[in-house]
Amino acid sequence: MCGITARVGTGDAVDELLAGLRNLEYRGYDSAGIATVTADGLDVIKRSGEIDELCEAVEASPVRGATGVGHTRWSTHGPPTDANAHPHTDCLGKVAVVHNGIIDNYTELRDELSTHEFTSETDTEVVPHLIEELLSAGYSPEQAFRRAVDRISGSYAIAAVFEGSDAVYGTRSGSPLVLGRSDDCCYLASDVPAFLEYTDEVVYLQDGDVVIMDADGYEVTDTNGVGVEREVETVDWDPADAGKGGYDHYMLKEIYEQPTALRQSIRGRSNPLEGRADLEELPEGAFDGIESVHLVAMGTSYHAALYASTLLADRGIPAQAFLSGEYGSSPPPTDDRTLVIAVTQSGETADTLSAVRSIQGTGAQTLAVTNVVGSTITRECEDTVYIRAGPEIGVAATKSFSSQVATLTLLSERLSHDITGGTPRATTEILEALSVLPDDVQRILDESTAADVAAEYHDSDSYFFIGRGVGHPVSLEGALKFKEITYDHAEGFSAAELKHGPLALVTENTPVFAVFTGRDDTKTLHNVKEIRARGAPVVAVAAEGTDRIEEYADHVLEIPDTHPDVAGVLANVQLQLVSYLAADELSRPIDKPRNLAKSVTVE
Ligand code: F6R
Repeated sequence: MCGITARVGTGDAVDELLAGLRNLEYRGYDSAGIATVTADGLDVIKRSGEIDELCEAVEASPVRGATGVGHTRWSTHGPPTDANAHPHTDCLGKVAVVHNGIIDNYTELRDELSTHEFTSETDTEVVPHLIEELLSAGYSPEQAFRRAVDRISGSYAIAAVFEGSDAVYGTRSGSPLVLGRSDDCCYLASDVPAFLEYTDEVVYLQDGDVVIMDADGYEVTDTNGVGVEREVETVDWDPADAGKGGYDHYMLKEIYEQPTALRQSIRGRSNPLEGRADLEELPEGAFDGIESVHLVAMGTSYHAALYASTLLADRGIPAQAFLSGEYGSSPPPTDDRTLVIAVTQSGETADTLSAVRSIQGTGAQTLAVTNVVGSTITRECEDTVYIRAGPEIGVAATKSFSSQVATLTLLSERLSHDITGGTPRATTEILEALSVLPDDVQRILDESTAADVAAEYHDSDSYFFIGRGVGHPVSLEGALKFKEITYDHAEGFSAAELKHGPLALVTENTPVFAVFTGRDDTKTLHNVKEIRARGAPVVAVAAEGTDRIEEYADHVLEIPDTHPDVAGVLANVQLQLVSYLAADELSRPIDKPRNLAKSVTVE
């Protein structure tokens, strides 16, 4: 949600800034802009709309400079206009600032700066004006930047450039900021793909860090200016992984990457022969004394958490999934017998970070299950297990769900072994199903008839998704994906809930997707009959040979026969394809769904 780039070094910055913004466009596409330092001052160019608009403007009136900052916006304060686009400057044009997050005290600061002429409705604009005041009072750019940052509260990642200086100043508190270092340049960005093409050497900055980078390198200090050591890490993402790789959309590419992503998630962690799930990040005895599990997450990650809570409950472990946005507001009781698992692809979701912070001090053990190495959640939790799905750029999460569920399934087996002494035989069956899961997903990708379903039903106004057990979170996820990218109304329910109200909405114009996992299928089939009796078309997602399914469903999307605990992942892949293909039929902007952005870093 909002992407920042900055670059300093030899050669011109503009192309690299624009390329960085393109790679961060998944974080917001309401407007974009860049500012560069030139011999004549600061050159700022910004446009509402997507990066293409900005690129056209840059082509029409080229800007140059070796030092610069860039921004792609997801609007919080003020609509997506040229004026509200970043970078923001002071009245004298001495500083240009880009910001991701929300400045909570911006109204007080704006009142205080009432003699300044503000040109936007954003919270961000107070920062350049504050800096201008401090520069006028005789402070150096570095002092002015530090003092201005001291005055603001909220969540932010900020980068600034100054007239007459080749340095970039950056800081973060609650929003991501990562530094990249190559032989002759330094980069700053909200996420690694912004500069992955130029370097794989990165430094994950931490809250309170202030970084100053210029042609000679970079320095990280704390808020008081005292130098701090931050480890330089090498990311193992291939720049091609962050591109579209010949697919029309990131979403489709990521759907097709699922067999690889799943192999990465499972590799070295599953030992079916000995009935053991090895998560070597977690030391022996990691869960000693744990009696119950809370999973906190939002959106698609919440659906993976709900899936895992069903698996854990089946294994005799009291477990509950919570929307982290609610959990943080009224945390349920926790103590040193509670394990709180934060499930988040980005590791930066503000609601999930605040849910974890809300139980600090209660003694509860915390564990992050995330995709992004070095993300904020990994520092907030005591332990981390990575899902290893590779970069996910598509705003609509796809491969991260499959990899989250696979990783959480392994974790459930480990917890079951540690807490209840779960039997190796049961574990062996699940691990065997997991080991063929990548091939099963590949089969679906090769043979799916989802295109027929999308072609037949994409004109309906409303869609329902039902399932039981792990089929319930899959129904919720199927509906979320469908509404996000088709803009049609879609709702997921437990199949059990249908008769208790939602059935009133079912008509011949509301296709219903029914998920069969091999558990409680007879009951779900009854629900399908009830739906058919109301004239609604039914698309069943079920294993080949599911009893009498052909008789009652208008269309069957087949999944390979597998263990019911992993069947949900397969069913979800079919539903991802239906959503993608229906949205494509409707010519929706699949990678840039209206009003959304990836990585929601504000509450
Ligand atoms: C839906 C989607 C969102 C995210 C949610 C949590 O397709 O992508 O619902 O799942 O914003 O994000 P993470 O997993 O990064 O915490």
